[in-house]
This record gives sequence, structure tokens and C-alpha cells, in this order.
Amino acid sequence: MFGTNIILFVYIFLFCFIFSDSAIILDPTNNGITVSIQNDAGDKTLQGILGIGQNFNNIDCNNDFSKCIIDEQTILSIKEVNSGYRVSWTSKNTSHSFKDCYNLNIGETFWFGGPERYVQKPLEQLILDGNNPYIIKNSDNFAVAERYYLNSKGTFIFIHDNVPLFIDQNNEQNGTVCFIAKSQNPYINRNRTILNYDIITKSNSKEAQLFAVNNYLGKPTDHPNEKMIREPIWTTWPKYKKFIDDGKVREFAQSIADNKFGGQLEIDEDWEICFGSHIFNKEKFPDINSTTSFIRSLGFSGITLWINPFVNNDCQNYSTEGLDKGYFVKDPEGNTRAIWWEGDDAHQIDFTNPNAAEWFASKIRRLAEDQGFDGFKFDAGETDYIIPPGDYDWVKDQEEVPNIFTKKYVETCSQFGDLVEVRSAWRTQGYPLFTRMIDKDSLWGSDNGLYTLVTTLIQMNIDGYTLVLPDMIGGNGYRQQPTAELIVRWTQANALMPAMQFGYLPWDYPSDKFDTVEIVRKYANLHAEFGDTIIEAMEKSILNGTPVNPPIWWIDPTDSTAFATDDEFLLGENILVAPVLVEGAVTRKVYLPKGSWQDGNNGSIYEGPLTISNYNAPINILPYFIKQN
Ligand SMILES: *[C@@H]1O[C@H](CO)[C@@H](O)[C@H](O)[C@H]1NC(C)=O
Ligand SMILES: *[C@@H]1O[C@H](CO)[C@@H](O)[C@H](O)[C@H]1NC(C)=O
Ligand SMILES: *[C@@H]1O[C@H](CO)[C@@H](O)[C@H](O)[C@H]1NC(C)=O
Ligand SMILES: *[C@@H]1O[C@H](CO)[C@@H](O)[C@H](O)[C@H]1NC(C)=O
Ligand SMILES: *[C@@H]1O[C@H](CO)[C@@H](O)[C@H](O)[C@H]1NC(C)=O
Ligand SMILES: *[C@@H]1O[C@H](CO)[C@@H](O)[C@H](O)[C@H]1NC(C)=O
Repeated sequence: MFGTNIILFVYIFLFCFIFSDSAIILDPTNNGITVSIQNDAGDKTLQGILGIGQNFNNIDCNNDFSKCIIDEQTILSIKEVNSGYRVSWTSKNTSHSFKDCYNLNIGETFWFGGPERYVQKPLEQLILDGNNPYIIKNSDNFAVAERYYLNSKGTFIFIHDNVPLFIDQNNEQNGTVCFIAKSQNPYINRNRTILNYDIITKSNSKEAQLFAVNNYLGKPTDHPNEKMIREPIWTTWPKYKKFIDDGKVREFAQSIADNKFGGQLEIDEDWEICFGSHIFNKEKFPDINSTTSFIRSLGFSGITLWINPFVNNDCQNYSTEGLDKGYFVKDPEGNTRAIWWEGDDAHQIDFTNPNAAEWFASKIRRLAEDQGFDGFKFDAGETDYIIPPGDYDWVKDQEEVPNIFTKKYVETCSQFGDLVEVRSAWRTQGYPLFTRMIDKDSLWGSDNGLYTLVTTLIQMNIDGYTLVLPDMIGGNGYRQQPTAELIVRWTQANALMPAMQFGYLPWDYPSDKFDTVEIVRKYANLHAEFGDTIIEAMEKSILNGTPVNPPIWWIDPTDSTAFATDDEFLLGENILVAPVLVEGAVTRKVYLPKGSWQDGNNGSIYEGPLTISNYNAPINILPYFIKQN
């Protein structure tokens, strides 16, 4: 009897809708609705369960799932949208939560996009704890985290901005990603709980990515100043940290000029009277105009300045003014205490309040106008410096809280010209700014070391941030100092990325085995030679949403070896870079997808698809290949 029922049940309730690009097959059970997506060739591209824990045996779904009435307050609807499907759960009861889970199908399917992390591995390998909100946060380097999962079968999931999202992945259940909606801290002031997302399938992952960029993620409207792309950027942070002053900045600039390098110079933290004043400390910098004139006299093409969006409480004139005027982010009790790396008694300027944003901007304008700074490094911008939740009165649509804070910060920063970098981002792909990778450590591996320079580059590009500013060459020396070898390999890995930022000075890291400065110069020159190529790739990104640095499967989105390759990347659509990322290595395995590839080092031609198991890459060699047309 039981078996017959099941067959009958499946027979009646197995639904299949076919629109132009894909089909969805839905099967209601006593534990959710199983869902399966097929592409137009009939291959399964995604499988999962909607509404885990919900018995669907007696739920009326209107025959076509356009409206399943779960209870008086709760509805599920599945509809066609953009030639794909929109799943929408809504409950007026904010105690309700929703959970839809999908099989990552590890081993066969590869995933791209998702969050920036401290341990940046390919997306399907990341572990995410569903108790932690999926928001833009400083903790765990979550500064660029779109709600976007693209897979190698040509399907992507885009979760809407207003969902109070938590993601549990490889955690409660290995091999599974669950999208969870809960109206809980930091998603406050909501009067409903929703889980809305679109599942779109195209013929392959490249078509899917281009569709996502043009219909969901966005693409840049312009590119940053060419100077920032073609010339190196030298920043005081790694070498000096916050112990900078006029003498050290001059010494730094002079040393760079003496070694016949140039570009832009960035005065990093800490130059203010107090954090949040945005006024030069005269004890450290008695006459900043003379400092900047000196730097320019050495031939630097631009000078930029580090900016933070906090006001420390002891920065009295400013904290008092900000408190009086209500310019700081507060918690639901009205407290404004924020904690950041330069103060555990600080305030976070509330960029969702236009008056507060203008108060901040007016101080930055003064630095640009009165002191001639060409651009700024806008630090922080994540939402979690005030102990969450932040309570944002100025936000009209409370369902955008808290990530709207980051968006408004980036919007504020975008008014300061084209020599600007930010490091946090949410739905800000359109701004013509560099988005910087979060500070890297001076390590080799997946724990925020050199390997993650490549994986973060790809994560950001797939999330739609194609104007990526790699972090400091050689890392920031947080856990240990870099070695000469790390600086050289980092320089090579960075050479065909959009910009090069140095902090540690190569001549401070001599080696008895090789000439650090000579190799670094060779690759800074290579970067400059490829300046036009980088700018062309950016123009293409502006025009049609192509990543500037795609993963190598961009060449052939049917190539499973290419999907599994996480230590190579492309510049534009014709240059493949396979940097040495392993300490001590002098050869590496190189995978070339289909096509004819010319070795950038000696002109040899290789026919892909091809694995070169021991490509010779002694310390002065960056393996890279140019696709022949
Ligand atoms: C809201 O949902 C919770 C748990 O799902 C339930 O306990 C509560 O009674 C519901 N509230 C109302 C007003 O229906
Ligand atoms: C999770 O699954 C992956 C792939 O099947 C496997 O490599 C990994 O060891 C598993 N992890 C745990 C904790 O079981
Ligand atoms: C605060 O204001 C006083 C009075 O205008 C001024 O003397 C002092 O320099 C200011 N301090 C800062 C940190 O701006
Ligand atoms: C500093 O230089 C800027 C131009 O770069 C100029 O406008 C400003 O008046 C100078 N300030 C002082 C105090 O000399
Ligand atoms: C519920 O919240 C939405 C989104 O913030 C808002 O548009 C709507 O007016 C609110 N409804 C009520 C009844 O408060
Ligand atoms: C080109 O250079 C690579 C790396 O050094 C080497 O493996 C390859 O054999 C070279 N080819 C020729 C023809 O020299």
C-alpha cells in the first residue's frame, strides 16, 4: 500500500516546467520539495530540497507552484523569471525561518563567486557556519561577499538583496550549501521574513556569468586612472606600519627614487592629530606641503592618503560634534561605541545619513583641495565595527540593513576622483574604483598567503568586481616577515594583475642566490608593457561585463580540468598566467586549455589542452602564455 501511494504521489505531483533555457522538476515530499534543474540539453545542473522540515503532502500549491499556501501567514511561490526560476518564500510571522539546501556535487561540479575569506579556497571547499550572518564584515575578511553562487554546469543562484541571509555550507552537512533566512540580529526592524532568489541556467558557465553580470551583478562604468594601472604604487604601511613621520616618508620616497623606480606614493596610517580629525599631526608632519613637494620633486606621479571612516572618542572636537549631530552608527539602545584596530572606544560614521556622509566628505575634500592629495585609500567600510546590530534610522527600506552601510560608504568614496581604492564592497560593481583585496599575510599558502592572491582575484572577478587592486606585494608582515623569495614570487604573480602595490622595498631583501631588485624590476617592467592589455581588458569589462582576470575555464567552459585549476588565471581572454606559488619550487605543473599557446618566455608553441608537468620556472621566471588566434 505504502509503495503504491508513493508512486501515485510522484505521478500526480511531479511537476516539470520547461522554459527556453532550462527545466525545473519539483517533487513535494513530507520533508520539503525536491528540486532539480536541467539545462536545455537535458543534463542536471543543480539539485536540492526546498523547505527542509516542511511536510508538503497536504499543501495546496495551486497546481503550478505559483502559490503554495503553507499557513495563514506563509507562502511559497516558484515562478519563471529571466528564462529561469524565482523561488520566493514569505512569512508575515518573523519567527518563521526558511532553509533551502543544494547539493554542491563536489568532485563533479565546481563553484565560483561567494565571499572573500581569510582562507580563500575554491568556493565549494569553503566552510560557512549558518549561525553567522552572510553580511559584509571585517571578521574573516568578509569584505566583498556577493550573494552569488555560479556553478560549472552553467547554473547560478542569486539571492536577493533584501533577504536576511545566513549560509550554512559544508558544516551541518558536508557537500551541501543551505540558504537560510532568519529575521535575526543583525537583520532587525523587519516585519516579514523572506527567502527570495533566482536560479538561472545558461548553456555554460561563461554564458551564465555574462548573463549574471548584465542582469544581476553589474559592471564598471569606467576604469581608474591609467597611472594607477601602468605604474607601481608605493605605500608606507608594510615597512613602517603606523610609525610614520615626515622623515620616514622622505626616506621611503628617496630610497625608491634612488633605485630608479617611480609611480604613486601612498601615505598610509597614521598621520592625523587623532583618528577621525583628518588633520595632519604637526609633530609628525610639521609642513605636509613641503613633504608632498619633496615627493613630487623626486618624480612621483601622484600622492595618495590613507583615510579611515571612524572617529575615536578621544578625538574630542570631532566625536563631540558627531555625537551632537547624530552622525554615528548606533545600536538599538542608542549606543555608538565602535571597535576597530585603532580604538576600542570609537564611533563609526553613519554613511546612510547623507549629512554624516557630507561631514566626512567635506574633510576629505579639504585634504584634496588645500593639501593637494591626488587620491585616497579608503579603508574599512564593513558593517560589523559596532557590535551588531546597527540600527539605521536613515535607511528607508529597512530590508537593506546592514549591507546598505557598505554601499553608501563606497558611494561616498566614489566622489574623490579616479585615484581611489576601497576594500569593502556590496552591490557596488558599477563604480569606477579599484576594490582592494583585504590585507594579505606574508605567507605562501591558503591561509591568506600568496596562493590566495590568485583565488581572491578570481572570487572578486566572478562577483563582478573586475577592477581588483591586489594587496601589498610580499604581504603585510603580520605573522612573519616576507623572505626575498616570497617578494620575488609575489611580484611575478601580481605582474599581470591590474595594478602593483609595493610596500616592502625589494632592496631591503637581498639574497645570496639571486638579485631581488633585478627580478622585481623585470616584472614591474612586464606589468608596464602589458598596461595597454590591462586597459583593453577593463574596457571590455565596461562594455560587456567580461572579467579582467577570468579563471582559465573562461577559454573553454566544458573543460573539467580547467574548472579544477585554482592556481592559474587569465588576463583578458588571451593571456594565461601560471605563477609559482610554492616556496622553494623551481618547476610547476601548467595546464593549458584548448587552443594554441605561445610561451611568453621563449616563444615555444604548445597545443592545448595540455598539461606540462614540470615547466621550468627558476626564480627569475614567471610562466605565462599567449593564446594565438
Ligand atoms: C509565529 O511562528 C512561531 C513559530 O513558527 C509560532 O510559535 C507563533 O505562534 C507564530 N505567531 C503567530 C502570531 O502566528
Ligand atoms: C567533505 O567532502 C569532501 C568531498 O567529498 C571530502 O574531501 C572531505 O574530506 C569531506 N569533509 C568532511 C569533514 O567529511
Ligand atoms: C579642538 O578645538 C580647539 C578649539 O577650537 C582647538 O584649539 C584644538 O586644536 C582642536 N583639536 C583638534 C584635535 O582638532
Ligand atoms: C599647500 O599646497 C596647496 C596646493 O597643493 C595650496 O593650495 C595650499 O595653499 C598650500 N598650503 C599651505 C599652508 O601652504
Ligand atoms: C514592512 O516592511 C516593508 C519593508 O521595510 C515596508 O515597505 C512596509 O511598509 C512595512 N509594512 C508594515 C506594515 O510595517
Ligand atoms: C621555454 O621555457 C620553458 C621554461 O623555462 C622551458 O620549459 C621550455 O623548454 C622552453 N622551450 C624552449 C624551446 O626553449
